[in-house]
Amino acid sequence: MRKQIAAANWKMNKTLSEGKQLLNDILTSIPSLSDHQEVLFSVPFPYLIQANEIVAGKKNIHIAAQNCHHKTSGAFTGEVSVDMLTSIGVAHCIVGHSERREYFAESNAMLADKVNLCLSASITPIFCCGEPLSIREQGSQNNFVEVQLNESLFHLNAEDLKKVVIAYEPIWAIGTGKTASSEQAQEMHAHIRAVIASKYGNDLANDVSVLYGGSVKASNAKEIFSQPDVDGGLVGGASLIADEFLAVIKALK
Ligand code: 13P
Repeated sequence: MRKQIAAANWKMNKTLSEGKQLLNDILTSIPSLSDHQEVLFSVPFPYLIQANEIVAGKKNIHIAAQNCHHKTSGAFTGEVSVDMLTSIGVAHCIVGHSERREYFAESNAMLADKVNLCLSASITPIFCCGEPLSIREQGSQNNFVEVQLNESLFHLNAEDLKKVVIAYEPIWAIGTGKTASSEQAQEMHAHIRAVIASKYGNDLANDVSVLYGGSVKASNAKEIFSQPDVDGGLVGGASLIADEFLAVIKALK
């Protein structure tokens, strides 16, 4: 069975002490996770080492980075490489979040490099895809997401693709309080799985976890996660409130 994942994305929020408090509040009340369930906390770079120490030894709970650079090393002031992440024991990294695509001009080709580097460093990429509102309004979202997958993931061989987690995050639903309906989420997730199946076969398509992101919170997680092709969520705002994120974790299948 593919993994069901609740992934927090703190983005650029919380001081160190606030973050520690949040993490501890969640860990104090977190339900025990089944083998097929996983909880990730994508925290800002400066907190990765300490956050990793806090979750050390806890079953299926991991710390993730929110980004990495697309080159291995060198004169890239302010950037963080996959080897740096590996060297501090971080084994998960968000790649291609729409905020990075928009504000830092990350292209599909650059994201293919990031995915490759993550995999070569044994880091699980949580690859984000999703369409802006204008594309949704034209009804071209399936094709838009397919191009993102094609240009950033489908060069991988089956063994590597299997290691990737995909997060579908429609941009119009991020931080807007406007969630995709569970039908809209299911439709896109089924499409993503069908596209993977057409290139890599059904078995592999059924093994890849596809998370939904965009205004997931306590009140809607259960319904969204109950969709057959939705394998959990990548959660922004609601992951900053302990009770909200705990409810999201409890909504995992
Ligand atoms: P919100 O949950 O705040 O809409 O953010 C979603 C997101 O971008 C997670 O990566």
